Amino acid sequence: MNKAVIGLQWGDEGKGKLVDWLSDDFDIICRYQGGANAGHTVIYREQTIPLHLIPSGIFHRDKTCILGNGMVIDIKLLQEEINQLKEAGVEVEDRLLISRRAHVVLPDHYRVERKYKKELGTTGKGIGPAYSDKAKRTGLRMGDLFNEKYLEKFEFDKDFLSLLHSFRDIYKKNIVNTVELLHNFIEKGNKRILFEGAQGVLLDIDFGTYPYVTSSNPSTGGVLTGTGISPNALSSITGVTKSYTTRVGTGPFPTRMKKNLNSKIQKKGQEFGATTGRPRRCGWLDLVALKYAIKITGTTDIALTKIDVLDGLETVKVATGYRIHEDITDEFPPEYWNLEQATPVYKEFEGWNSTKNIKSYKKLPDQLKDYINFIQEYSGIKVSLISNGKNRGDIINV
Ligand code: IMP
Repeated sequence: MNKAVIGLQWGDEGKGKLVDWLSDDFDIICRYQGGANAGHTVIYREQTIPLHLIPSGIFHRDKTCILGNGMVIDIKLLQEEINQLKEAGVEVEDRLLISRRAHVVLPDHYRVERKYKKELGTTGKGIGPAYSDKAKRTGLRMGDLFNEKYLEKFEFDKDFLSLLHSFRDIYKKNIVNTVELLHNFIEKGNKRILFEGAQGVLLDIDFGTYPYVTSSNPSTGGVLTGTGISPNALSSITGVTKSYTTRVGTGPFPTRMKKNLNSKIQKKGQEFGATTGRPRRCGWLDLVALKYAIKITGTTDIALTKIDVLDGLETVKVATGYRIHEDITDEFPPEYWNLEQATPVYKEFEGWNSTKNIKSYKKLPDQLKDYINFIQEYSGIKVSLISNGKNRGDIINV
């Protein structure tokens, strides 16, 4: 029973916490796209450890974590993450496996990105240029580290080359053919695999708000191309959405809140990027975008996160349509400049008091239940999990 956990918004939906929580039921946690543009902070034995590349499943000592072929890996940052884990007492040993087909982020990728970083509001982690090289067929893959002649062609400077050599020599056993490995696990059927997405559908290079997107496919297609598993190997897809919306970086955002409320939610929800520290813009839940993301991903159940951040508001709104020029539509437009013209049509709900420390669905305030019921009705998909706090235990099974 393999599951994918996919962000249904512009990233930062709280996937990390959810993956950490779900990891108990899985043996292998596999990332399939993106790179160090993702970020998730884990509190482990009172230490705060930011992870950008390695799935948080690494904190569970009986789990294997895989960096799939769809990823672009900054080796220096990966080495730093491994060291940080070691210092915290978490040995990765043979529990961290890296695809030989995954691409390596090169120093040049950082240089190239500097030219357009500001305009697109990227994370500055070399992601776009690394994927461009992959598409141009000029990239370097992890498996290529074992071919000295091939490495020479890149004419890397001494320092970078020695970083590649030392990483290769230390982690020789960890750099493997993950396609074969995953297929063996799936054929035997005795291991359960959790596929962890980074970013979200609205940042997908094909289905997001292009060009204000990332350079990979966080949607379900990315699970297949980023790991080599067959579609039949996936039995469920948990789509993750915040109970409101945030967006970091530039690009259209129809349900953005007014200034005061934006600041309030930003503060209460600690909406600052884990990778760049940038403040995230905050807005109401956009059901037009959510339904679209559910359609694209084949989401089988919804995890609704950070519901507690909306506690205490007098009213809570969701967008059920867009007014674009004279027309009202519930279709998510393919062009960013059309989305920029969209004025949301809102449905308003009565707010609720507090969800703090509530452990069962039954005990949630009725007003919140109305809100959740409407999300289910509109999207046609069941909400299976609700997160109502920062702590690991603040998750309610519905
Ligand atoms: P890039 O992925 O660094 O190229 O950035 C492209 C866009 O995706 C920018 O708007 C970033 O802010 C956004 N982005 C990339 N990774 C994340 C993430 O993990 N969470 C939220 N936004 C992200």
